[in-house]
Amino acid sequence: MPMPERGRPWPEIAAEMQASRAADLDWRHARHGAYVWYASDELEHVLREAFGMFLVENGLGIRVFPSLGRMEADVLESVAGLLGGDATTPGIFTSGGTESIFLAIAAMREWARATRHPAGPPVVVAPHSAHPALDKAAHYLGLVVRRVPVGPDYRADPAAIDAAIDEAVIGLYASAPSYSLGMVDPIVELGAIATARGLWLHVDACVGGILGPFVRELGYPVPPFGFDVPGVTSISADLHKSGFAAKPASTVLFRTADHREFARYTFDDWPSGTYTSLTFTGTRPGGAIAAAWAAFQFLGRQGYRELAAASMRARAAIESGLLAIPGVRIHGEPPLYAFAWAAEGVDMGSVARALAREGWVAGRTTSPEGIHVMATPIHERYAPEYVEAAHRAIAAARTGETSTSSRAAYN
Ligand SMILES: Cc1ncc(COP(=O)(O)O)c(C=O)c1O
Repeated sequence: MPMPERGRPWPEIAAEMQASRAADLDWRHARHGAYVWYASDELEHVLREAFGMFLVENGLGIRVFPSLGRMEADVLESVAGLLGGDATTPGIFTSGGTESIFLAIAAMREWARATRHPAGPPVVVAPHSAHPALDKAAHYLGLVVRRVPVGPDYRADPAAIDAAIDEAVIGLYASAPSYSLGMVDPIVELGAIATARGLWLHVDACVGGILGPFVRELGYPVPPFGFDVPGVTSISADLHKSGFAAKPASTVLFRTADHREFARYTFDDWPSGTYTSLTFTGTRPGGAIAAAWAAFQFLGRQGYRELAAASMRARAAIESGLLAIPGVRIHGEPPLYAFAWAAEGVDMGSVARALAREGWVAGRTTSPEGIHVMATPIHERYAPEYVEAAHRAIAAARTGETSTSSRAAYN
């Protein structure tokens, strides 16, 4: 619509906005397998209040908003503590996984420029399971991504990764966990390769970075993926995913301050002096920094441990319900709350479409064919409904309803 000539009262606007949500994904009833991380009404209230309190402040001006600077530093230190770092571990508070990965890859490129002279475009080697944010970053930064098939366990295959390294390669990329199948790559082995070959290793822990360490603390066998692993150079960990903070918020941490400096952009040939920034974005929402800080204070380690436990209970409830359906299996052995499942001899595109008709947003996986689940605390309560819907969707697919779309789409 064109901009209205005259404004309208807020209650009228709010009513219209509420009504416009009718066809939106019903995340309050856990119909989501992506996009939304919701913990509780209490936390939602805290996030709204904190975001609103700093709605107008701008994270670009950390010097004039020391409150934001302090909260940002606190959040980064907390995340570093979860990921095998400490108060000296340098980080950047960003707008999301894509920006965190962009900055890590940008820093990797500048580091390589300073330390070696690769012939031709620099190459990053990654397992086929890597998130497209890597390729997006490479696209903008003039890098090439060399994707290598995963092993039979759907995790990065260290031998194949090693074999793909030549003199053009500047770094490796791995996930903890991968988006599609929820696999944590063998970071210890990849760290050893990175060390032996003198490469940068970025760990994409956008999904697992905050809650994964708590799942491990609860006794689940979560393989190491932090700075305690030799060879890990940078890690991205999203606050707006398993940190249950408000969007847009993520972190990227670096092994040393020198590594982080490679992410910095500085310019001064313009009429206002030196412009320097560690982020891709200029203006940054103060509200997102404040909400992330408030989430950490409100939940504390105990709160995150409970969210981790609830997420794993939700996964178990969905998984056991699905496995009771004849022919259903889980792909591989994903150690966290993300996984994908498939039903034998059934077109999973049809199953996904049948689920979607009932309001469940089911992302598809293609290699192997399946349906993606990202279990969060709220999914525990709705697991039986999801399983029943999956039952019906599989039955419909078995009786001949076929998918009209052969393509899986991420968004
Ligand atoms: C493993 C992984 N990495 C990176 C991203 C990108 O994060 P964002 O959408 O916050 O930019 C995602 C998003 O789902 C992801 O799952």
